Amino acid sequence: MIASAPGKVIIFGEHSVVYGKHAVVSSIGWRCYVNVEKSGDFLITSEFGKTKLDFFGKHSYISYAVKRFSEIKKIRGAKITVKSEIPPDSGLGSSAAVTVATLSALNAEFEAGLSREDIFSLARSVEIDVQGIASGVDSFVSTYGGSWIIPERRRFKTNLEFGLVNSGEKSVTSEMVRRVADLKKEHPDIVNPILDAMDSIAVKGAKCLERNDLKEVKKLFRINQSLLRALGASTPKIDGIIADIEEKGFAAKITGAGGGGYILTTGYGDRISIGGEGVRIEDSEDWRISDNGQG
Ligand code: MEV
Repeated sequence: MIASAPGKVIIFGEHSVVYGKHAVVSSIGWRCYVNVEKSGDFLITSEFGKTKLDFFGKHSYISYAVKRFSEIKKIRGAKITVKSEIPPDSGLGSSAAVTVATLSALNAEFEAGLSREDIFSLARSVEIDVQGIASGVDSFVSTYGGSWIIPERRRFKTNLEFGLVNSGEKSVTSEMVRRVADLKKEHPDIVNPILDAMDSIAVKGAKCLERNDLKEVKKLFRINQSLLRALGASTPKIDGIIADIEEKGFAAKITGAGGGGYILTTGYGDRISIGGEGVRIEDSEDWRISDNGQG
């Protein structure tokens, strides 16, 4: 069976969400597709190559997804094939999407009867297995799809348009989350107020998005980016790209863990459609997405 799951953007609240603060997140149109077929052995194939279960290499999220799934339903083996439209190490939730899609495809192929909430909960465990610390927000939005205010799990709608610009640098979530955690441990008196300010930005930001208040959203983007920069989540290259975008009259911030990856803008760059479907299941006969991963 094939399962697919969407990538995501964090509009407000990356990093602070790890510490229980609010986040405003949305799924995007780019998806990751995983085909699972019963087999006597494990074989994982993706754009990164072919491996068996590979916990510390190319396929860590998939391998841990199999491990977590096997704790619920024992399986002898599976042929797992991945095609993704979500660029890796981009801050756009490719790891959560491949995890959620793998768990959902295993669930469908082996008829384990897991609910969406079970899938989310297992995916969150996998994120923690691989990254050490994770809020689970990426897995949540990838499982359910749509636009959400976290932790309330309240859906929201906006007519505002967003764009993405690739920084060309890699964003490695585990490394960035650890870096912020270290800074917080070193300077709690400085970092905690920053996280509190990010919380207020997310709460206000959600309201501004709902009333389509572009002017306020741009202001909040700028403050949020400055605070993310203070936490060490920006880079000189990202700062330069954002300065150029600002000169054109837009606002921009990192989205996701930062240190690289994509920059979210108030309309400049590649337009993205936010919201849309969460997990989708298709029959393997429908394995019709082309080799370059475009649906
Ligand atoms: C990564 O997309 C978002 C972070 O807040 C980490 C997490 O929430 O687990 C940086």
